[in-house]
Amino acid sequence: MSPTDVLVLDPKARDRVAEDRELRSRGPVARVDLLGLEAWAVSHPAYLKRLLTDNRVSKDPRRHYPDFEQTVQRWPLWLWIAVENMFTAYGADHRALRKLVGPAFNHRRTQVMRPVIQEITDRLLARMLAKEKAGAVVDLRADFAQQLPMDVIHHLMGMPVEWQKAMAEPVSKVFSTSLDMAAALKNGEDLAALLTDFIEYKRKHPGDDLTTDLIRARDGENRLSEKQLVDTLILVFSAGYETTVGLIVNTHRNLLTHPRQLEIVRRNPEVMGAAVHETLRRDASVAFLPLRYAVKAIDLPEAGVRIEKHQPIVAAYSAAGRHADVFDQPDVFDVLRPNASSHLAFGHGTHMCLGAPLAVAEAEIATTSFFTAFPDAVIAVDEDQLTPMESIISNSLRELPITRRGEKQTREAA
Ligand code: HEM
Repeated sequence: MSPTDVLVLDPKARDRVAEDRELRSRGPVARVDLLGLEAWAVSHPAYLKRLLTDNRVSKDPRRHYPDFEQTVQRWPLWLWIAVENMFTAYGADHRALRKLVGPAFNHRRTQVMRPVIQEITDRLLARMLAKEKAGAVVDLRADFAQQLPMDVIHHLMGMPVEWQKAMAEPVSKVFSTSLDMAAALKNGEDLAALLTDFIEYKRKHPGDDLTTDLIRARDGENRLSEKQLVDTLILVFSAGYETTVGLIVNTHRNLLTHPRQLEIVRRNPEVMGAAVHETLRRDASVAFLPLRYAVKAIDLPEAGVRIEKHQPIVAAYSAAGRHADVFDQPDVFDVLRPNASSHLAFGHGTHMCLGAPLAVAEAEIATTSFFTAFPDAVIAVDEDQLTPMESIISNSLRELPITRRGEKQTREAA
């Protein structure tokens, strides 16, 4: 297969590992179809780094994608390009929008969040232990991984707990690639309406939180339009939930299915951070990131590719994490891999993930605490019964049912 043969990405992501392998086999940069939209997918880490720092590549469709209006009308992933925030900004606009949110996620603020994350984790684990005691099956995704990032973001944004239920579904649907256009459109509109109401609520009930800071930047200093304010909240809530849920699920899954690696982490708790990064490398929770656009034509002769002006580009993060040119035996989960943290799962360059330190802190605290509370946990079903999230973008599992080693053996013997 050549780079110009189009690989149609599976909206249900039934076999991500095989699909990524196929993509890499077509070359460092190759054509894909993403729900009916063709783009260049970049799956080689060196090419990704180059293109993510090349100012001939933009994320602003309003300036650099002439098909923008039509695409927003027909493409189920329309919200990913229609939002007006740092995620879809270029150059000076990007710097200005990112500056408003950046300080909330710096190293010091993340350190301050650690006790909060620990407290939320302990509360969730206590609830899981009680649920287990009552005889119910514990689902590590629904009961733990999904709750923790949500509670953390709500704390950061100053969102009261009663809003949580309403937020969870529309945010998770942002990552779904199984919605038709009408459902995707309604979901984006519902989410914007919900956050517009929330902004009104926060205008009346300001606090020491990021939403209040952003409202001040809008109302007091006129540094944001009302749409940019709503869309920045869409970004922070979406980026903060599903991606981190995926990381927490994937890290637990990898440790539970690799007992020797788990043993290394148990004996050396300081290795847990490395286990989280190795999971990001091997199973990036954001698999594909739409979209970027060529500001000018870009020639990549060594790849046999020329990206024409305005053509869309997608970063293939999960495929890059298993590239054999960079990672020795890339399918192997090895918590002691020396270069695991050179993965690109948080992106690279100006748009690199703002929440990366926070996400890693959450996953580290979650896994360390989980394996203390459930030292003999095992996955309750066979691995081939674990079903992936139906999403080209989000790379994780729909459920991760957990039981105790002894109980699984008893059930299997019965
Ligand atoms: C495991 C968890 C996470 C993963 C894998 C992840 C991944 C990414 C990636 C790949 C990008 C770069 C997108 C691009 O290619 O342009 C990104 C951007 C971003 N992420 Fe994350 N993210 C995670 C968690 C978070 C959290 C917890 C937050 C905040 C609460 C967050 C906030 C952001 C923001 C604001 C951006 C946009 C930055 C910009 O455009 O300048 N992320 N993330």
